[in-house]
Amino acid sequence: MYNTNISKEILCWYDKNKRDLPWRKTNDPYKIWLSEVMLQQTKVETVIPYYNNWLKNYKTIQSVAQANLDELLKIWEGMGYYSRCKNFYHAAKEIIYKYNGTIPNQFDVFKSLPGVGDYIAGAVMSIAFNHPHPSIDGNHRRVISRILGIKNVSRYNKNRIYNYLKKIVEIDRPGDLNQAIMDIGSTICKPKEVFCDFCPIQFSCKACVSSKPLEYPKKIYKKKIPTRNLAAALIEYGDYILISKRPVDGQLGGLWELPNIELKNGECPEKLLKKSINNHYACTIKVGKNLGLIHHTFTHFKMNITLFRCLLKHDQKVDSSMKWVRWSELDQYAFSKGNHKLFLLYQKENV
Ligand code: ADE
Repeated sequence: MYNTNISKEILCWYDKNKRDLPWRKTNDPYKIWLSEVMLQQTKVETVIPYYNNWLKNYKTIQSVAQANLDELLKIWEGMGYYSRCKNFYHAAKEIIYKYNGTIPNQFDVFKSLPGVGDYIAGAVMSIAFNHPHPSIDGNHRRVISRILGIKNVSRYNKNRIYNYLKKIVEIDRPGDLNQAIMDIGSTICKPKEVFCDFCPIQFSCKACVSSKPLEYPKKIYKKKIPTRNLAAALIEYGDYILISKRPVDGQLGGLWELPNIELKNGECPEKLLKKSINNHYACTIKVGKNLGLIHHTFTHFKMNITLFRCLLKHDQKVDSSMKWVRWSELDQYAFSKGNHKLFLLYQKENV
């Protein structure tokens, strides 16, 4: 009874206050799944144009399965966490050859697809198919920790959070309930700021009643992440520059980049770049001007990359993971944000 009332209050708030988001205007499991994959590591405002653009180009799961990964990565370019895109692509293929083009509506079957974990499975099952599964992301964890007065996010308490959400989604609108908690978490019950007066469940919330809601849950301080130093080469030959494709399986897999090399302590970047470009890219180059330094942060490390303008002296035949392309053709290839920062350094130098 108590939980049903909480669910009702949350849904009543949601009906009046829900954010108007494009993936909330559809029941199509393909579109809902796509939105959840994009939203898993990326903010709502960033996702909206990517989501709309993707659907303009790929209206069905069939069209994703038939696409070429390079085209999909180009659409994903700039959103980061590219393995999400690759997994979605492989999952789309599996939907076609294993499930005859129909997205499975059973939690365990759906969860067996590439890139689908408890969170995505819970979100898609509840939003698209109305099955009462919790989907727990950072917002849910924080909001429910506060409701239950949880300070330490231990394994035991994570189970309590899961069981609590599992109970309150046992209603006829589980997808809306999951999404309502996302909205409460993003607009009212934020990590560093709360607006408890606007919260539909303020009187059932232990953290709010304690009048120190921000103390729930306790912050986990992240470990300092290492920094890697690299040198990159912008190798020119007439109108052309050399780009190289990263192996599909690793980090930023399948994206293009300028040839580069990691520097160890004290090594001379010019010398190392020249040697490594010769060994790995079969080009003899003259390393020219240092065009500057960019910084880029990933989840587990930071990167400093120094860019050198280089001239091709001699090349053997480049293999298929490398290409000489004109500047005007660069926008046909997907590059990471770090590489776009390098291109800006070059453009600044050449205006
Ligand atoms: N974050 C993850 N899923 C979401 C959704 N369906 N709506 C809003 N924000 C979200």
